[in-house]
Amino acid sequence: MFVDLEERIRKEEKISSFINNVVILEEIDSTNSYAKQLKDQVDGTLIVAKEQTQGRGRNNRTWKSFGEKNLTFSLIVNYPEDKEVLGLFSLLSANSVAATIEELGLIPEIKWPNDILINSRKVSGVLCEAVFDNNKPRSLIIGIGLNVNSNKDDFYSDDFVYRLEPTSLSIEGKKEYSSNDLVVILIKNLINWITLFRLKKYETILSFWRSRWIDIGSELVVTQDQMVLKGDAIDINSKGELLFLEKETKKVHVLNSGELST
Ligand code: BTN
Repeated sequence: MFVDLEERIRKEEKISSFINNVVILEEIDSTNSYAKQLKDQVDGTLIVAKEQTQGRGRNNRTWKSFGEKNLTFSLIVNYPEDKEVLGLFSLLSANSVAATIEELGLIPEIKWPNDILINSRKVSGVLCEAVFDNNKPRSLIIGIGLNVNSNKDDFYSDDFVYRLEPTSLSIEGKKEYSSNDLVVILIKNLINWITLFRLKKYETILSFWRSRWIDIGSELVVTQDQMVLKGDAIDINSKGELLFLEKETKKVHVLNSGELST
């Protein structure tokens, strides 16, 4: 796994001009945790793990990845100058996974802000984390987990409870995929979307994301200030925040990604 990854990255001009360091780890607790503790937060540092033992998901959840069957990696990028639209990083990361899935001929669906599903089952998740230095933002870590070749027996080999039913590309595509090829395609797509962000093409990010969004109009439960709110997702705004119409009060809440529980 990842035998020729560094060479492929060097050869692909689009990738090599963006990726400055590649770290391939045999085993690590979490690629995001590894990235966070690096002293030099060099823009374009890619950390790929063959095995991630304590993968972290959003809202302190666990991300299970089953060794070499699936992809787990993190990319360190400079913290965006335009902090107002920081939330778009979650969306553009989801876009890059969705674009990758489409290249395989499968149909991705996105749940706000960045769960990626196929046939209503979760195939990938994104965890974006900021790194601070003396309270000053230094970098942003984009962690992506993509289920490539795991099967149902892997997912249900213990009594782990999934928030969303899990799936993999091979379950949905009914064939095995090469993680080596996929990591290259996915990184290329991620670079495309980050480049669009840096060119301030925010509308392009939002419209691609919106057209693959599945929970628009659907009923959601949100936890805010320890209160549970029920209502409908009505749209996202230009910062990628969710506009949520509370059923009982008819009030529109603007939520960032930390606040959605279901
Ligand atoms: C989620 O769906 O809640 C986000 C899952 C993110 C998992 C990836 S795997 C690579 C990176 N390292 C981690 O510990 N988490 C992210």
